[in-house]
Amino acid sequence: MFYTSIRTLTLACLFSSVIGIATQEKRDDGNSGIPTVDDVKNPVCKPWIAIRDAIMGDIYHGRCNDNTRAAIRLAFHDAGTFSLSREAAGQDNGGADGSLLVDPNEVLRDENNGMQTIVSLLKPLPEKFNVSAGDVLHLAGTLGVLACPGGPVVKTFVGRGPVKNVNPTNLIPDTHDTIPNIVNRFNDMGISVREAMALIGSHTCARQRFVDPAFANDTFDTTPDIWDIRFYSETKRNDSDPGVFRLPSDLGFAHNSLTQKDYNRFVGSLSTQENWAREYADAHEKLSLLGQDADTLTDCTEIMPEAIHLRDITVTHSGGAVDPAVDPEKLAAALQATRSIWLS
Ligand code: HEM
Repeated sequence: MFYTSIRTLTLACLFSSVIGIATQEKRDDGNSGIPTVDDVKNPVCKPWIAIRDAIMGDIYHGRCNDNTRAAIRLAFHDAGTFSLSREAAGQDNGGADGSLLVDPNEVLRDENNGMQTIVSLLKPLPEKFNVSAGDVLHLAGTLGVLACPGGPVVKTFVGRGPVKNVNPTNLIPDTHDTIPNIVNRFNDMGISVREAMALIGSHTCARQRFVDPAFANDTFDTTPDIWDIRFYSETKRNDSDPGVFRLPSDLGFAHNSLTQKDYNRFVGSLSTQENWAREYADAHEKLSLLGQDADTLTDCTEIMPEAIHLRDITVTHSGGAVDPAVDPEKLAAALQATRSIWLS
């Protein structure tokens, strides 16, 4: 589908820029790598095309931007308060239920600093489309991953019920905490070290503002708009690139005996990227279901646009190439081919 789209790209670009084809017409052309309502087979999933477009279009503009970064982090902070030990003790629990969109105070906590804008943008959608906050929040997370070129399709489910309770405090790992404590916290979520090391790679498209405000907007790798594995290699080497910030916890993961073996699995070449993308997608799916009964939900992954594979936008296709650079022309072509209706 991707190559077909590339073949038709030149003509499509020419027409759209000359006569300004309307969004709906472009969506129906069948070549955009973007499923339409007619393409979607499960009737439960059809209404989700409009919600997908509201997020991918109005909020992300089809790109990896500050709203997509914040939405991915939001998905973690919503789900990551899940606790097996609290559940076993019958205590209030967190989980992937969208409470961060509903409770007015949660987003004001220090640990959630920086997510106020994305929360205010997503907040109206549950009521507007008559769906749950948890479904909207976690669709925003999986679409956020996909909006960053190189990001995989993460299986996306709908049907979560209303928010269960306000997330308990002190359950989101802090970057200054020790690696054993952070590992324990992930284990208590039900997330293994291997899964946690895959998830932490989402820092490939991240920025910091509050750990050290003197370096506000610094990124965690040199390619913050691309979903690649440079984060792992650059953090491990502790490169000193201008504008790049290292979180103490990320440096710890690269070198601590509890985590370095699983961390190192993602330092490497284009073939390593493929492994990471696959493992990341599985781990993010698990995260998005914490505290939910997956058997009661509906898999609506069929609404998701096509992924842009890193191998298709790098200067080399060789699987052995380590951290290959992205070719800007290939990137622009891939965005047009698979995100055209949302780009602005
Ligand atoms: C040990 C676990 C983690 C720690 C300690 C941690 C810590 C942080 C910190 C301190 C920031 C910068 C916040 C700011 O100052 O603006 C950040 C950003 C971010 N984190 Fe994490 N994180 C962890 C795990 C994760 C996971 C599992 C995900 C997603 C699956 C994630 C996704 C992100 C994203 C996308 C951003 C960028 C947000 C933005 O640019 O607005 N993090 N993280």
